[in-house]
Amino acid sequence: MNIVIFGAPGSGKGTQSERIIERYGLHHISTGEVLRDHIARGTHLGQVANTFISQGMLIPDELMLDVLADIFRQNPEYAKEGVIFDGFPRTIAQAEALSKLLAAYNTDVHAVVGLDVDEDELVRRMLERGKSSGRSDDNIDTIKKRLDVYHRQTSPLRDYYNKKGNFHAINGNGTLDRIFNDIAVVLDEQKNK
Ligand code: AP5
Ligand code: MG
Repeated sequence: MNIVIFGAPGSGKGTQSERIIERYGLHHISTGEVLRDHIARGTHLGQVANTFISQGMLIPDELMLDVLADIFRQNPEYAKEGVIFDGFPRTIAQAEALSKLLAAYNTDVHAVVGLDVDEDELVRRMLERGKSSGRSDDNIDTIKKRLDVYHRQTSPLRDYYNKKGNFHAINGNGTLDRIFNDIAVVLDEQKNK
């Protein structure tokens, strides 16, 4: 089972991914975490990525796709065992590349879980986290840019996956438990197909 967890910055993708991994035993690929790890280690990719991340902009598709392809080369069992993609894809080009990449392993994206959260709640969560996260993008100016980028570049993926018939919208406001229960209904149904 390959799942995409989809949503605006601060919508709870990382938080819910942890629970999904625990229950469904999927591998977690968070492109944001991969990039932050490169930044922390001071790699060349990290330096390039940081210039985009701190501005709230997306890393160019080509660079991001190289990073993803690398993860699959190093972990060829992932596609067969199942992955939760967190923060990827973020553009139509990335979604198409992901399908192609998974097709090489005779698989595809099975379900996309979209977390819908009110905009003022997104801002509140990220500002709260910014007090201790050390993330260069958790400040009000960059948060506004990230939300703008999400609306312009990433939200069109809702329609893209809706047309494929595998987009499942979840109300991402409220308690962690309730949100997870709603996600689990979708994933259980998928698992039993
Ligand atoms: P990325 O790391 O993916 O960040 P993001 O999408 O902006 O989202 P966040 O990680 O901030 O939020 P989240 O949805 O994971 O929510 P979380 O669970 O943390 O990307 C960062 C940057 O990297 C991008 O801007 C871009 O530059 C680059 N990048 C990454 N992937 C890329 C790609 N594919 N292509 C190009 N560039 C890419 O929750 C947020 C906070 O709220 C937490 O503090 C949490 O504890 C809290 N919280 C969660 N759920 C609840 C709840 N139900 N109630 C109250 N609080 C909650
Ligand atoms: Mg995250």
